[in-house]
Amino acid sequence: MQNNRVAVLGIYVTDLVFRASRQPAIGETLIGSSYIMGPGGKGSNQAVAAARAGAAVTFISKIGKDAFGESGLSAWEREGITSRVVQSETEPTGAACIFVNESSGENAIIVVPGAALSLGAAELDAAAGAITSARVFVTQLEQPIAAARRGLEIARAAGVITLFNPAPAISLPDQFYSLCDYVVPNESEAASLTGVSVSSADDARRAGDILLKKGAGAALITLGEKGAVFHTPERSVYLAAFFAGRAIDTVGAGDAFVGAFAAALAREIDPLEAARFASAAAGISVTRPGAAAAMPTREEIERLLAQS
Ligand code: RIB
Repeated sequence: MQNNRVAVLGIYVTDLVFRASRQPAIGETLIGSSYIMGPGGKGSNQAVAAARAGAAVTFISKIGKDAFGESGLSAWEREGITSRVVQSETEPTGAACIFVNESSGENAIIVVPGAALSLGAAELDAAAGAITSARVFVTQLEQPIAAARRGLEIARAAGVITLFNPAPAISLPDQFYSLCDYVVPNESEAASLTGVSVSSADDARRAGDILLKKGAGAALITLGEKGAVFHTPERSVYLAAFFAGRAIDTVGAGDAFVGAFAAALAREIDPLEAARFASAAAGISVTRPGAAAAMPTREEIERLLAQS
């Protein structure tokens, strides 16, 4: 049987998402129009996106022994995700405070990773079997960089495809990029990693060249509603965004993209086709509220691809 396993290292937090006409100013109290509470954290969102997109997913993380942690455990069980999640006796599960602009769907986020901040190389060594038995390993930067690096090293040594979503972006040593088959930043992350201001496909190509020079195998730069650029030493292809309806909530759109891309790579689809599959997943996710809750299924993604 084909190995379609994806291992994701990242954080889980509970998201509190508030919709309002604008962000409040310092010292101001603003009445919002609605709020929802639900599963979030980039790693966990990507794990849910990959599972719904058809992969067999293992999630590696650390949470607390509290009500928010319980909601993470039930979410992974519901989604059929295997949990390699350590529960700390002393540290809490994290949370995110998310503003969503009720007319544009754009968001601003403060995330507190909680127990996941003490994830280190030791926890990754303990979960090495889940990584080496996967076809694709995925991580981001909401947990400490040492954990991300160890995960990438374990995956690389075992010949597992490595997918790195540098979010939130921080300055990284070049050796880090050489552990990555795919680096998948959004425009602002690509800009902060390369110093190139990114707002068009040509800018993304310039930033992509720098990421390749730093050692990445390929750069896949997302540009929100403007699409994405798939950039490798051999080819550079612009992918238009998919329209699946009005964007009401962009929280987790990047995670939908990364998770669906990982799931498609795990099925050994051509990487450019996998990137189109990922774009379609992101296009659907923005039409729905919430982060993990908004992730589409493989059938929904394939239906949108067939219509386009
Ligand atoms: O990418 C969106 C996610 O970023 C949210 O779910 C929030 O928890 C933050 O981690």
